[in-house]
Amino acid sequence: MLNKVISSILSFHAVLQMPPDKSISHRALMLGALARGTSIIHNLSFADDVRSTQDCLSALGVDFAVQGEVLTVQGVGVEGLRQPAGALDCGNSGTTMRLLAGILAGSKMSVTLTGDESLQRRPMQRVVKPLMAMGGDFSTVEGRPPLGIKGCQLQAVVWRPEVASAQVKSAILLAGLTCAGKTQVAELHPTRDHTERMLKAFGAKVAYGPAWAEVEGSTIAPFEFRVPGDVSAAAFFVVLAACLPQASLRIEGVGLNPGRTGFLEVLRDMGASVHWEVETEDPEPTGFIEVRGSRLQGFSIAKDLVPRVIDELPVLAVAAACAEGRSVVRDATELRFKESDRIRALLGELNKLGVKSEEYADGFAITGGRLSGAVVNSHGDHRLAMALAVAGALASGSTTIHGAESVAVSYPDFWDDFAHKLRGAQL
Ligand code: S3P
Repeated sequence: MLNKVISSILSFHAVLQMPPDKSISHRALMLGALARGTSIIHNLSFADDVRSTQDCLSALGVDFAVQGEVLTVQGVGVEGLRQPAGALDCGNSGTTMRLLAGILAGSKMSVTLTGDESLQRRPMQRVVKPLMAMGGDFSTVEGRPPLGIKGCQLQAVVWRPEVASAQVKSAILLAGLTCAGKTQVAELHPTRDHTERMLKAFGAKVAYGPAWAEVEGSTIAPFEFRVPGDVSAAAFFVVLAACLPQASLRIEGVGLNPGRTGFLEVLRDMGASVHWEVETEDPEPTGFIEVRGSRLQGFSIAKDLVPRVIDELPVLAVAAACAEGRSVVRDATELRFKESDRIRALLGELNKLGVKSEEYADGFAITGGRLSGAVVNSHGDHRLAMALAVAGALASGSTTIHGAESVAVSYPDFWDDFAHKLRGAQL
């Protein structure tokens, strides 16, 4: 287990680039495998989760070649995938397991998807139910992995998922690519639309809008695509700068999909000086974020905002801990089903740093105050590790983070960037 010691940061000025986006990288690999022919991906994420997707696709007979920052995929189409020798290991990655479930449901193979201890605890019924309604053949262990899939011919479905989840929506749309007729998903609240945007850009018959998407049986054309910087990684630095009066930060080349930028709106409503601008639109909006630190007020997050900040709630909780007054998050039960129980684990660790909070079944409340350094634990969860690093930098004294290695799941260079790019830019 890796431990990291964080000391206080008083202020900094920096211009940063983020690592490649994880969500978009998964999709680029999978759509590259489904296209028949050679696709070229620039700036693919090198994080562990994305490596899990690539390894699963390799085991399914898809060839990859890397040259510098360019990855070439020899796509074979769903019918060209090969029966793997054993179970496919999705590691820590829920996106790998749920999206592959959608692809493999309509294939010709029998495949088992498994994962690490954390992934084995996560709910899969949310994808199994709609895929079974399409005629898919699945087995689980009480709704959890390992996930057994016997590929077969699927039928189109109209589905209203019970949770607002881009992974569920994406699994259904990917399965719908193999069906005659229209497969439709009507969401409770809008979620990130990476799958829809990329399907459209790569030639599939797809239509979508806020909280709905539909796809018709189609093939995907080989493509060339650049993955933008990861806005969820940017959130850690943006929150840190927003909480430090005098600090200023610019992040360039970062994805600004509206399904992911809710945290910027929250910070603006808290009183932070934040500005973001889309510079190129297709297929993914990409641009810059600028932020200057100031005194922040508490926030309230609920309902349709929740899916748009779902991965940023741990670091927004840190902003809440430094803000004036009380912040409340409701309608966020989903946090309990992430890489850790992100309500229980987060509040437990923030409490060690002196943060006053209340836990609800579907969220939490935090009263802002002063943070003081302590020994905390990531619970093996990459986003908790990075949120705790931000909390440690805002706390007095020093903070030790146990389980610091978990950042590799989405941002392998996080500790180097945190130590060198920020510390080097300190005032
Ligand atoms: C993701 C969707 C979200 C998010 C996860 C990545 C995706 O999960 O929390 O980190 O790539 O589609 P849900 O769809 O389960 O909300």
